[in-house]
Amino acid sequence: MGLKTQTWNMMGAKLMLALILLSWASSVSCFVSYDRKAILINGKRRILISGSIHYPRSTPEMWPDLIWKAKQGGLDVIQTYVFWNGHEPSPGKYYFEDRYDLVRFVKLVQQAGLYVHLRIGPYICAEWNFGGFPVWLKYVPGISFRTDNKPFEDAMQRFTYKIVNLMKAERLFQTQGGPIILSQIENEYGPIEWEIGAPGKAYSQWAANMAVGLGTGVPWVMCKHEDAPDSVIDTCNGYYCENFKPKSIYKPKMWTENWTGWYIEFGGAVPYRPAEDVAFSVARFIQNGGSFINYYMYHGGTNFGRTAGGPFIATSYDFDAPLDEFGLLREPKWSHLRDLHKAIKQSEWALVSADPQVQWLGSNQEAHVFKAGSGCAAFLANYDTKYSVRVKFRNGQYDLPAWSISILPDCKTAVYNTARVGVPISQIKMVPIGGFSWQSYIEEPVSAFGDGTFTKDGLLEQISLTWDTTDYLWYTTDITISPNEAFLWSGQYPVLTIMSAGHAMHVFVNGELAGSAYGSLKDPRITYSEKVKLRAGINKLSILSVAVGLPNVGLHFETWNTGVLGPVTLKGLNSRTWDMSKWKWSYKVGLKGEALNLHTQSGSSPVEWLEGSKLVQRQPLTWYKATFDAPPGHAPLALDMNSVGKGQIWINGRSIGRHWPAYTARGNCGTCSYAGTFNEYKCRKNCGQPSQRWYHLPRSWLKPTGNQLVIFEEWGGNPNQIFLVRVSRT
Ligand code: GAL
Repeated sequence: MGLKTQTWNMMGAKLMLALILLSWASSVSCFVSYDRKAILINGKRRILISGSIHYPRSTPEMWPDLIWKAKQGGLDVIQTYVFWNGHEPSPGKYYFEDRYDLVRFVKLVQQAGLYVHLRIGPYICAEWNFGGFPVWLKYVPGISFRTDNKPFEDAMQRFTYKIVNLMKAERLFQTQGGPIILSQIENEYGPIEWEIGAPGKAYSQWAANMAVGLGTGVPWVMCKHEDAPDSVIDTCNGYYCENFKPKSIYKPKMWTENWTGWYIEFGGAVPYRPAEDVAFSVARFIQNGGSFINYYMYHGGTNFGRTAGGPFIATSYDFDAPLDEFGLLREPKWSHLRDLHKAIKQSEWALVSADPQVQWLGSNQEAHVFKAGSGCAAFLANYDTKYSVRVKFRNGQYDLPAWSISILPDCKTAVYNTARVGVPISQIKMVPIGGFSWQSYIEEPVSAFGDGTFTKDGLLEQISLTWDTTDYLWYTTDITISPNEAFLWSGQYPVLTIMSAGHAMHVFVNGELAGSAYGSLKDPRITYSEKVKLRAGINKLSILSVAVGLPNVGLHFETWNTGVLGPVTLKGLNSRTWDMSKWKWSYKVGLKGEALNLHTQSGSSPVEWLEGSKLVQRQPLTWYKATFDAPPGHAPLALDMNSVGKGQIWINGRSIGRHWPAYTARGNCGTCSYAGTFNEYKCRKNCGQPSQRWYHLPRSWLKPTGNQLVIFEEWGGNPNQIFLVRVSRT
């Protein structure tokens, strides 16, 4: 071997080494892994503070501000679900625009210098219609959701691929230099697997393998799934997670949903969770070795359109989150948590380096001390729900209010206590700007066989007919009364009983409203039972059955029914009781106003509307239309709907959601102390008031002039008392 060749070989080897080092360096520069203590980013253990912001629950115009406020609030990560039914409204037809512009959302988070936890799902729960599943999925032959079922797994895999490939193409995974550091493949599957056993186990194994096989380079999570396959991280969801232990000792202790409040249901009181308790739960989790915490929700936002699940989930998804529905800072929650994050970050090095040593400070008090080299951080906890105490720790004395934790990033100075709130409450203010000048249009109850109606023997399930393209389905039939019926003379009218699987209905006899009935989130079923004025001859019975969001949680919720399934009976006739359930019924999907597209400018113009003294008020099934100019400024806007009953609202052709102020809040609205274990029934407000009175009208959906507001009102109310309000916080 000549000298020259040797030199070349050495140079080649050096070059090779340099290349290897280079590629190693570039791979470690974007690398997510984990160990028993924490998620590691670029080889560095991190305490990560995350918050949920669901992109379709706000507008793209709101996103930068929400993300910026999240960053100012001390967040490292934004967590979101991916909303399958928004992205694939019909099979193979994808939609990624406007509020569903996922790439734009993820890139905005990246630009803000934050990470993303992308819960690709595709099951999301989330009080979102059908738990995020497209309704067409229910009608795929042979399908069974969230179990070892080929048609389901095929569809789930297709959608997961679609999203992962989209993220890869945009170089959004951390391994590609993007912000996504974590994903999720199933949501709270533990309880389902527990119920269904072997097929559930097979499915979760399949789901984990499928997800990990996609080679995203970032870890996958399955939340609330104690038995999750080893290739994914099992995480905790709840109000408290300090005692949670991942299945394997090699996994970090992560909390994917710390509920900052709770959702609002129509008919329920409005839940809230004190900031002190949220902070306490986080500090308690961190002192017990937790290293990832996500606020569900950090900004809850709005269930625009018909995206609310449930049924009976309200349009507001405010969640008592640190950023309120309108994106304003909810104080003291936002600041109090920001200060908590600062104190935790000051302690980060000790927290990720050491395991806590627990010391007793009193009967109900403890210190958790993290000592690493010369670093030391301590958490001093008082679990007592009534008494504040003075404890001794090292050479100092510390006052700990009831149910609180102090953080000492240097083991000396208490920089933060979870129960000491330094910021005043910010009250929300709804200042009326003005009313509207309305026009009305009556939606006649369907009484005859007309366009688009069809007739069948017996009562049919609602969603199988509507495919959830509308809330509304008409059931109509003829009741022929002979002149010999005794009630015609006695005045003792027969009793009509209608049993429905849900969720609401309006009953019309000969075109007149006979009554309405509705269920609740707890029990969506309805029984309507009233005397009805029938006359000799043919009587038209028309039932408008109304869905209020499809279920988003529960074992095989895809099999649950909606609509008038009977029995329907008429009692008190000469021949006693008639069972009408098997009679001929005619069906019509949707309202006439929907078919006419009354919610749009072009659909509403050709129609004759009444106004001025002819304006129809307090009549069921009425459409209202008004035009207005946008008020100046940037403050968020809402509609005060207190004077109407139930229906839907559109602005410039976009649906802002269902309104139902007439469903007032039941429940217990006593006083509520921050101290002691929280649950969603503990702190509630608005009892006796509408569960939701104000409806968010996104600024960006308005033009400077000539905005068209359309309302469909089912119950009848006074539109002249609907106000546009400016939203602010003091
Ligand atoms: C969790 C679920 C979330 C959301 C939350 C409650 O169980 O994972 O999607 O539904 O409850 O608001």
